[in-house]
Amino acid sequence: MHTTAPILKRTLPYDLEAIREDFPILSRRVHGKPLAYLDNAATTQKPRSVIGRIQQYYESENSNIHRGVHYLSETATAVYEDARIRVRNFIHARSEREIIFVRGTTEGINLVAHSFGGQRVTRGKEVLISAMEHHSNIVPWQILCEQNGADLRVIPMNDSGELLLDAYEKLLTEKTAIVALAHASNALGTVNPVRQMIDLAHAKGIPVLLDGAQAVAHSPVDVQELDCDFYVFSAHKMYGPTGVGILYGKENILSSMSPYQGGGDMIKSVTFEKTTYNDLPFKFEAGTPNIGGGIGLGAAIDYLQSVDLPRINTHEAELLAYATKALRGVEGLRLIGEAAEKACVISFTLDGIHPHDIGTILDREGIAIRTGHHCAQPVMQRFGIPATARASFGMYNTIGEVDRLADGIKNVVKIMR
Ligand code: ALA
Repeated sequence: MHTTAPILKRTLPYDLEAIREDFPILSRRVHGKPLAYLDNAATTQKPRSVIGRIQQYYESENSNIHRGVHYLSETATAVYEDARIRVRNFIHARSEREIIFVRGTTEGINLVAHSFGGQRVTRGKEVLISAMEHHSNIVPWQILCEQNGADLRVIPMNDSGELLLDAYEKLLTEKTAIVALAHASNALGTVNPVRQMIDLAHAKGIPVLLDGAQAVAHSPVDVQELDCDFYVFSAHKMYGPTGVGILYGKENILSSMSPYQGGGDMIKSVTFEKTTYNDLPFKFEAGTPNIGGGIGLGAAIDYLQSVDLPRINTHEAELLAYATKALRGVEGLRLIGEAAEKACVISFTLDGIHPHDIGTILDREGIAIRTGHHCAQPVMQRFGIPATARASFGMYNTIGEVDRLADGIKNVVKIMR
């Protein structure tokens, strides 16, 4: 069988120049200036190895999977299933049966809300989320609660953007059917004390879903160590392609859940009278999946492992500390989200200047940041602001780019005041 050999780990030290060279887009110019890509929380750039792996799939392996007896179908099936094994190893799941390919974090949460929630979030029950959730971890639960006569409860946070654990404990009751929580916040950068929060929920027999979209590319994740019941993430925020992601679920829970979508691949047999469903993980994978995307995700994992996540984490922590200090020095700048534990995200506002103006002026300098509500409108409401400007860093960003950001913001202040 054809499988892709993982890339070997780089040798120390952290070779930023070599890493940057792996990403073709980073050498392009924008508005005549070198690109400083600081919008990694929205999506990361893709290394040559991921782009090349997807190209290789379409050039020499493309076929439908789990269906054919011919060579190409067997090859495509093998490389796709090999990617699943890479995901399992990457997040330390017990088995490939616990790894479901989905379109992304949003679909993973919708799947759980529909299949798990449909059975367990019944009238009078509650779903507990937090005040810093992305819309994708709010709206599916809201829809479910509305349909089933259940209630949505929200864990509050303090002015630094940290969840209030005392309030959390009180909100965990016999009514709570599930806790759904960001591992790291896309709008504030807060990394939540998820291990402790899972323990508190489990002490009352309550399962926990973690939205890992902003965490999984920044520090190692071990779902067994965390003991979370579900973990969801997207490939495109971890140097992989768009349109593919992962739902991890504990096997006993996934087994007890009804399917999400019906169609090909998720069945064992179909008659007009009755359908029997396929085994895990295929029970939740109706229709032809994003095969090239899944293989690309496998290549992204290889790449992340070759650079080494703990070293990426150290590099990003240095960038965050340097950027926080540099931005604090700008007059009229307010940081939104100052939790003690933060991922490499800096949200901020400038007195009297709309975030969209900040983004537009920085863009003319080749600096890409995101502005707006970051699909987390309740976070903006909590801080009494309509929007923020947000710089978010990845493994390839440099101190020089942070300096350009700080200078660019000072320039915005000069132009707008
Ligand atoms: N959720 C993505 C972000 O935070 C799109 O920008």
